[in-house]
Amino acid sequence: MAGKGGTGKTTTSVNLGAALSYFGKDVIVVDANLTTPNVGLHLGVPVVPIHLHHVLQGKNEIHEAVYIHPAGLKIVPGSIALSDLHITNPEKLSSSLKKLRKLKPDFVLVDGAAGLGREALNAISAVDDLLIVTNAELPAITDAMKTIKLAEDYKKNVIGVVLTKTGQSNSEITIRSVESMLERPVISVIPYDVSIKHALKMKDAVVFTHPRSKPAVSYKKLAAALIGQDYVEDYSVKVEKKGFLVSLFKKFFK
Ligand SMILES: Nc1ncnc2c1ncn2[C@@H]1O[C@H](COP(=O)(O)OP(=O)(O)OP(=O)(O)O)[C@@H](O)[C@H]1O
Ligand SMILES: [Mg+2]
Repeated sequence: MAGKGGTGKTTTSVNLGAALSYFGKDVIVVDANLTTPNVGLHLGVPVVPIHLHHVLQGKNEIHEAVYIHPAGLKIVPGSIALSDLHITNPEKLSSSLKKLRKLKPDFVLVDGAAGLGREALNAISAVDDLLIVTNAELPAITDAMKTIKLAEDYKKNVIGVVLTKTGQSNSEITIRSVESMLERPVISVIPYDVSIKHALKMKDAVVFTHPRSKPAVSYKKLAAALIGQDYVEDYSVKVEKKGFLVSLFKKFFK
């Protein structure tokens, strides 16, 4: 996920991950927002013994930093400690992500930093495909334009645009205009909805906490489209939650 600050990248990483996992896919969400990681905050991840910063500092291997959320989603959290801000080797992200392939996940979703700084570029260069997360406001679209241009320079595949927090004001740009300005299809529209705030307070994905809310349904539709499946809502499917966050490393490698 790439785009301007505060557009909904982390919310989208977490909820698209949750939705793909709802469809039975094996998903790892990696918090590559190194200076302000908050995938963990969105999912109520406690302070973990090994995180992405340790991996980038060369202290641990990435599979040691994979944790399983009670709903089945896997997460590689970042460190929220100030002392870890001095990352020794962010360029290690790309090779670390490649090592995740050994775990044979169906999807690895990488939550990137905002903007076009070194940190954001580093995440863009480490992935194969990009989803551009933006709001329907001119400043966000201008940033999205630059991100797409950069992705092209890096020869990355831009899957499409996810327009989030829509329906808040009547100054919003229309979907058609967004598509013509960005020359990319809008593949998902996630309305602004208070359920997202409630889910954040509950430290869980809205897909799990408010499965019938508009954003949850939109994220599930996006997940279904990405896996080439028709979306049929079935509220009888309950996400079974098991215990607490556990370390995948301890489960499989010890
Ligand atoms: N569909 C939505 N409806 C209501 N609020 C939303 C929605 N999507 C995101 N938000 C809220 O917007 C804020 C920013 O979202 P988020 O943290 O996902 O953005 P971000 O792009 O990851 O930000 P950053 O650039 O700081 O990493 C959060 O408070 C989040 O709860
Ligand atoms: Mg974020």
